[in-house]
Amino acid sequence: MTLKISVIGIGYLGAVHAASMAELGHDVIGLDVDPARVAALQAGRAPFHEPGFEELLRRGLASGRLRFTTDYEELAHADVHFLGLGTPQQADGFGADLSHLRSAIASLAAVLPARDGAATLVVGKSTVPAGTSRSLAATIEQVAGVRLMWNPEFLREGFAVQDTLTPDRLVYGVPDPDVEDDRVALLDAVYAPLLEHRVTRLVMGYEAAELVKVSANAFLATKISFINAVAEMCEATGADVTDVSRALGMDDRIGHKFLRAGVGYGGGCLPKDLRAFLASAEEHGVGEAVGFLHEVDAVNQRRRARVVTLAAEMLGDLAGRRITVLGAAFKPDSDDVRDSPALDVAARLLEAGADVRVTDPEALAGAARRLGPERVVAGTEDALAGADLVVLLTEWREYRDLDPATTRRLVDMPRMIDGRNVLDPRQWREAGWEIRSLGRAA
Ligand code: UGA
Repeated sequence: MTLKISVIGIGYLGAVHAASMAELGHDVIGLDVDPARVAALQAGRAPFHEPGFEELLRRGLASGRLRFTTDYEELAHADVHFLGLGTPQQADGFGADLSHLRSAIASLAAVLPARDGAATLVVGKSTVPAGTSRSLAATIEQVAGVRLMWNPEFLREGFAVQDTLTPDRLVYGVPDPDVEDDRVALLDAVYAPLLEHRVTRLVMGYEAAELVKVSANAFLATKISFINAVAEMCEATGADVTDVSRALGMDDRIGHKFLRAGVGYGGGCLPKDLRAFLASAEEHGVGEAVGFLHEVDAVNQRRRARVVTLAAEMLGDLAGRRITVLGAAFKPDSDDVRDSPALDVAARLLEAGADVRVTDPEALAGAARRLGPERVVAGTEDALAGADLVVLLTEWREYRDLDPATTRRLVDMPRMIDGRNVLDPRQWREAGWEIRSLGRAA
């Protein structure tokens, strides 16, 4: 069944969702208040780096099933409206800023016609604190025939298309899961091709659906900080964290994923969702129960500081020393520099007086905005020229594949900090490098 679908907020999540829904055969319109973003997408250009997305976008546009607008009036007759708006960290606190979501709901409510036949479904996909859906429902459901569901999104940057079209599970939040609810059948119709491929869908209360999402991200952050805390123990005792992590991960109950020690997590989601979870728990009077998440955040910050300490151990005074930072994005296959550990470390090294150069295959624009254009160099070879120290902070394939002998000829002094544990220290030492890795003894 082809449905008329709108996606409000076509940032990362919304744009991928809109193109994916068109791929499933629906008739989709994406809306954003930013005309430049709308124009780029309408012209088939992805405003961010995401493997596979641009092809999907172009296929959708060519099929006539996908278009973009800035005008809410054009959405009025859709059957299902997805909300893909961002919920950034508040400017003056840890909580989530819901203002984009609230203003979108108000703009949508103003154009929705009261339907007495088929229901209109509004489906939230943004990451929100528990309690948000119920309060938004109270506003939007005042329009006759409108129903709200919460359907959190679990996509990872770099795998966004794959995660949207073949998710691990679909979570549907409804006001009361014990009551038969026709909104479930409507969302099932949207996702029919996924459900036919045996994707499991779980129906639960609004608050549970909201909590699945924030606790998933808090758990992932905790898992990373856990291994990074062990990495500190390894540095202190002479153990190698990659040995510990490998053996730990072979226990099925623990698993290998998100157990890579290094400079820690960043990005637009894990850090802010962890803090929003803390703020929300405080508001509900259970802050103490999740107090350990403050430590998770602190361990993550400590790893960044550790890189600067290591650099000082290797170079002595950092003032005026040429340091090349490999990587600016918060992770490989992304041009996203939000809360990027690599850029944060680069900024700390700059502050300590070092002459820092940063390079990245995709995130140079973001790096230049944060550090200044004079700090950014395109191309690995040019960036490495004349370095006293190289610091690998985002594990792009091309950095993992660097050859120690060839790289040595490019730099002034063969010194390396591997902030992601992706280089073989023995191989680099044999080629004459002094190399330090996070979580491995010198
Ligand atoms: C994360 C979640 O993984 C998604 O499930 C979720 O949907 C998304 O946030 C969101 O809320 O929108 P993403 O931010 O794309 O996805 O990035 P991740 O792949 O989770 O990586 C986060 C950070 O952890 C990166 O900086 C990465 O380098 C770091 N990381 C990851 C480690 O330091 N060690 C690991 O073992 C794994």
